[in-house]
Amino acid sequence: MTAQILDGKALAARVRAEVARDVLALNQKGVEVTLAVVLVGDDPASQVYVRNKVKACAETHIRSLEFRMPAETTQQELLAKIAELNADDAVDGILVQLPLPSQISSAAVIAAIDPAKDVDGFHTRNAGALMTGSQTLVPCTPMGVMRLIEDAGVNPAGKTAVVVGRSNIVGKPMAMLLLHAHATVTVAHSKTPDLASVTKNADILVAAVGRARLITADMVKEGAVVIDVGMNRDENGRLCGDVDFDSVKEKAGSITPVPGGVGPMTIAMLMCNTVLAAKHRRGLSL
Ligand code: GUN
Repeated sequence: MTAQILDGKALAARVRAEVARDVLALNQKGVEVTLAVVLVGDDPASQVYVRNKVKACAETHIRSLEFRMPAETTQQELLAKIAELNADDAVDGILVQLPLPSQISSAAVIAAIDPAKDVDGFHTRNAGALMTGSQTLVPCTPMGVMRLIEDAGVNPAGKTAVVVGRSNIVGKPMAMLLLHAHATVTVAHSKTPDLASVTKNADILVAAVGRARLITADMVKEGAVVIDVGMNRDENGRLCGDVDFDSVKEKAGSITPVPGGVGPMTIAMLMCNTVLAAKHRRGLSL
């Protein structure tokens, strides 16, 4: 049986429509919602991501401020820009697109962002809050994955979940959200020996390692929910995920495509986080 395809593009459009309604209601109360997006350098992939984020803002009535800084920007210059955005009461969310040029420490930059405006949820204060279950701003990609799982009608409670990948942006917060949703969670990664023996147990499998088509059908449990966070180029330069879609879709119960799965959800959740930050900063009800 072929898996149900989880359409992240369609779900993201529904989420953006919800956000747009929410923002219009805030506008009617005289509240404008503003996201500042900072892009340093000219990495082509980052330029595409930033363009899509700004476009999603326009669609959801969020005001976006775009700051493009040259590749040779110093850490001090970027920290000065962040200090300015932290102090600007009209700015609700600050997003610094990663990766940053090598002369800038991303840890130092993330630490400088006001945690209340940290719509990426990368600040240690927000990461710590996620760990203790008192979170407000949660990283966008893992949150988008949870929405996809929920929308597929799957409740993680009591299920076995395996996250492949341990980044601060996806793997670790993903494991934490699944744990909060009462799954039994295993985190595997590029150094896990016999990865298949781990992934085969997964009722819910989230692949976020950045290796083209690493997850093949023999590594997947029959009927599993398979979520592909990968964004890789294969040997022919074609965009592909961490999951070998064509073989795995014959074994999984449901699966996200690349593109059109997790990617659009990440941006939709960024819009949600921006509205959340705006409400929270102003003491409005969530
Ligand atoms: N680069 C890749 N993913 C992300 C993300 O979620 N946020 C930011 N700021 N940069 C990224």
